[in-house]
Amino acid sequence: MEIKKRSLWGILLIAMMFVLAACGGGGSESTSGGSDNADKESEKSGDGGLKDTYTVASDTSFVPFEFKEDGEYVGFDIDLINAIADEVGFEVKLETTNFDGIIPGLQTGSFDIAIAGITITDERKKTVDFSDPYYDAGLRIGVAVDNKDINGIEDLKEKTVATRLGSTSADYIKKNIEGAKASQFEQLDQAYLAVENGSADAILYDSPNVAYYIRTKGEDSLKMVGDLYQAEQYGIAFAKGQDELVSKVNEALASLKESGKYDEIYEKWFGEKPE
Ligand code: ARG
Repeated sequence: MEIKKRSLWGILLIAMMFVLAACGGGGSESTSGGSDNADKESEKSGDGGLKDTYTVASDTSFVPFEFKEDGEYVGFDIDLINAIADEVGFEVKLETTNFDGIIPGLQTGSFDIAIAGITITDERKKTVDFSDPYYDAGLRIGVAVDNKDINGIEDLKEKTVATRLGSTSADYIKKNIEGAKASQFEQLDQAYLAVENGSADAILYDSPNVAYYIRTKGEDSLKMVGDLYQAEQYGIAFAKGQDELVSKVNEALASLKESGKYDEIYEKWFGEKPE
């Protein structure tokens, strides 16, 4: 009797589930960002052709590649992706986020493309695709102007080194500097501030950014020391599965280099032509 009762309840439950499923079948279920994604899917033509508009993620603050000026995002990366978009023939829908959210956002499909001084690494290639390299960089140390103890990477042992969450320099500190504490910030300005207010001994970050920051904002508080550590190359990143777009972007990049447009953008932001 007890068993029968239970199985009756079971049948009832299953029947109820069917009814519920049928009611929900009208497309009203909401997974995260559901309808947005559905729209996006339908924009894609089945044969893998290009879309009219791509969502391009960038970082909120990484001078001089992307940063806000008079309420607008400007910088080398922004000019470059717009020039590429003109060349290939698509509209850019720019979305900015903290650096550590960019690659996950490509993986989940929130963004199609990302340009944010992203270093091409084998590890990242497992989850996103990259364009050909568009900029050569490396890592640099910045310390307080009056700091006499830190003159190179060997002096960072056991020190607190500020950097950006999810960056190649955070990895570098963990792997290569004995006993150093990587103090990782979501926003870059906080990392510079940590050195300026003495809560970190140094910052280790991308060479063009450290140089530009010191030149424009931090001249009285920070200085650069040591050499260029770990050569890196920046690439434009893509959500996987967009091979045609990647090759179109590579072609555009090559033709911008060819035409001198790339040099023009480079000179605008770095004050000199690329070597
Ligand atoms: N190039 C380094 C990396 O890929 C640092 C990122 C720099 N870009 C930025 N927008 N914060 O990890």
